[in-house]
Amino acid sequence: MKTTDNPARVEQASAGHLLKCVHCGMVQSTVDRMFRCTQCNELLEVVYPLLAEAPREFGLRLREIWKERRTGTLPEDISGVWRFRELLPAIQRNNMITMCEGNTPLVKLTRAARELGLPELRAKHQGMNPTGSFKDTGISVAISMAKAEGYSFVCCASTGNTSASVAAYAARAEMKSIVLLPAGQVASGKLAQAIEYGAHVLQLHTDFDGCLNVLHDVVHRFPAYLLNSLNPYRLEGQKTVAFEIMEQMDWNVPDHVIVPGGNLANGSALGKGFQELRELGLIRNLPKISIIQAAGANPLVRTMRENGGNALVRVNAETRATAIRIGNPASWRKAVAVLNNSGGACEDVTEKEIAQAKAELGSEGIGCEPASAATLAGLKKLVRSGFVKANESVVLVLTGHTLKDVDYMLQAQINRVIGPMPADAAAVVAVLERIHAGN
Ligand code: F0G
Repeated sequence: MKTTDNPARVEQASAGHLLKCVHCGMVQSTVDRMFRCTQCNELLEVVYPLLAEAPREFGLRLREIWKERRTGTLPEDISGVWRFRELLPAIQRNNMITMCEGNTPLVKLTRAARELGLPELRAKHQGMNPTGSFKDTGISVAISMAKAEGYSFVCCASTGNTSASVAAYAARAEMKSIVLLPAGQVASGKLAQAIEYGAHVLQLHTDFDGCLNVLHDVVHRFPAYLLNSLNPYRLEGQKTVAFEIMEQMDWNVPDHVIVPGGNLANGSALGKGFQELRELGLIRNLPKISIIQAAGANPLVRTMRENGGNALVRVNAETRATAIRIGNPASWRKAVAVLNNSGGACEDVTEKEIAQAKAELGSEGIGCEPASAATLAGLKKLVRSGFVKANESVVLVLTGHTLKDVDYMLQAQINRVIGPMPADAAAVVAVLERIHAGN
């Protein structure tokens, strides 16, 4: 049998997914529109009961199948999400909405590594996804579920990236998208994308948390499928970043993986991905997964500090890293579990530290969003505190593309531009000579 042939067990395993409450543990096979536990109203996560019983050879076989698909030509093999479909809910091919998401580069950060005294520092650049953020990996899976269920409308509340991704994938699926945005708080690149891809864009006089609250009510009154990360299928797509990191690192587990935290689904998804690889026997240990928040939007940091992760401490969020301007994160319980299971840290960083880290990444030729740069700012703090040690390997997850928030960069760095000056070679050379001389 060719290794690309799917063994029947593999298909059965993913076909039979269930939904498990992250709080009371109740398992259910169907979900309501808000994707909440019918018993305690907490969030659900997707579980694959058959995978838990899989023999060790099964994991190794998956590794081979996934590798072979990388040279395939089918859309579901080219996708850096659907390539791992044995660990995703089963979806018929005609409902699969994919744009070759995932497949993002893992790049070495040589200068930052040198400055921090670390042997191996890499950035997994999720900003290289089709709409410029990690959201595409999750939206691809969740919108495919919406399509399979026969919805024609999808919706989300967003700080910007989810809306861009939802709008694009809905367009590809020939569905209609509705996005609720906090008025005046979304970076212009993201707003422009949502408009361009044909979303119905509604700006509300509130913040992200307020938009999500309104959306809760809307989906009870209007038949639109919710694509926020309360939707557990989102995390199934997003967890594949862990699989890609492991493939790209030749299955050597990094000591640390660091993500920014907003609504806290992404860190949770990352943790779920690594956990499933461990359950399949493909890795022995988990990396420490650390979550970094902006100091002005740090509900998880406060929750961990003030009550050890038992009860969410909400905050009024304020940060120029608008992607993570969230004070009442939906997935906080999942994130606390990931921190506890992996032994990761939760830190916050100031606006100045974020700006500095972003400029440093930029000076290595690696652009990203301010929210993504929080990871490097956080890493510096974790190195200073001794949590990340001098011999340890680190992966930063850069979540969004640098062109999403051009205003941020221009405001911070416009003074580095020389001129306007005369259109005259002698004048230009004079400036260059001064630069060369180091003045
Ligand atoms: N980085 C970027 C670039 C983001 O857009 C987001 C979230 C995060 C990090 C945080 O991820 O919420 O899973 O903890 N953006 C959402 C949005 C909220 O609406 O685009 P999280």
